[in-house]
Amino acid sequence: MKITFYGHASLAIEVGGKHIIVDPFITGNPQAATIDINTLKADYILLTHAHGDHVLDVETIAKNTNAVIVSNAEITSYYAKKGFNSHPMNHGGSWKFDFGKVKYVNAIHSSSFPDGTYGGNPGGFVIEGEHKNIYIAGDTALTYDMKLIPLRTKLDLAILPIGNNFTMDVEDAIIASDFVECDKILGYHFDTFGYIEINHEESIKKFFDKGKDLMLLNIGESIEL
Ligand code: NI
Ligand code: MN
Repeated sequence: MKITFYGHASLAIEVGGKHIIVDPFITGNPQAATIDINTLKADYILLTHAHGDHVLDVETIAKNTNAVIVSNAEITSYYAKKGFNSHPMNHGGSWKFDFGKVKYVNAIHSSSFPDGTYGGNPGGFVIEGEHKNIYIAGDTALTYDMKLIPLRTKLDLAILPIGNNFTMDVEDAIIASDFVECDKILGYHFDTFGYIEINHEESIKKFFDKGKDLMLLNIGESIEL
């Protein structure tokens, strides 16, 4: 499993021979100006919620690739009405795709499209594929529901928001990593806007002091699990 960071909460995942894009917000992020969305491959687009900083580039990528949009039923029906391919899910449900298993899990946040359309309740994803398991938290507060995840899945990586203001801060993300029982963390949802700027060294040290490894990737950088 290969995970590439495209800035903010945007990720690409290569697993089981398939390409997945998560929460594409690239053309609206000046820090990601080197990424050309027209070159991105996608068999699936996974969306945690409907906010503009998670869905901005969905339609361009879906038009280019014919990717299947996977999210809650409200978000997928929004795109299905516009003619895009979609797979609806809802909280607590999982589905075996051709690359692995995806479960849509709880997040505490809000979810409406930039045009005001209701985007259902926000979520995160647990993805199991190639004998590696990852949790993509989406935009969320710290919540006890995170404790449910390790009851079913032993995680190899937790991708957690750490930018504060709209989501968890570093301290809450450390507790979240305890709740999901995973000491390897990829941080996201930081530095994009003034509200969510973080001190990288300090954040890495705070995780390190609890025996945990916080990775902060440069935009375009990848890790292999
Ligand atoms: Ni959001
Ligand atoms: Mn966001």
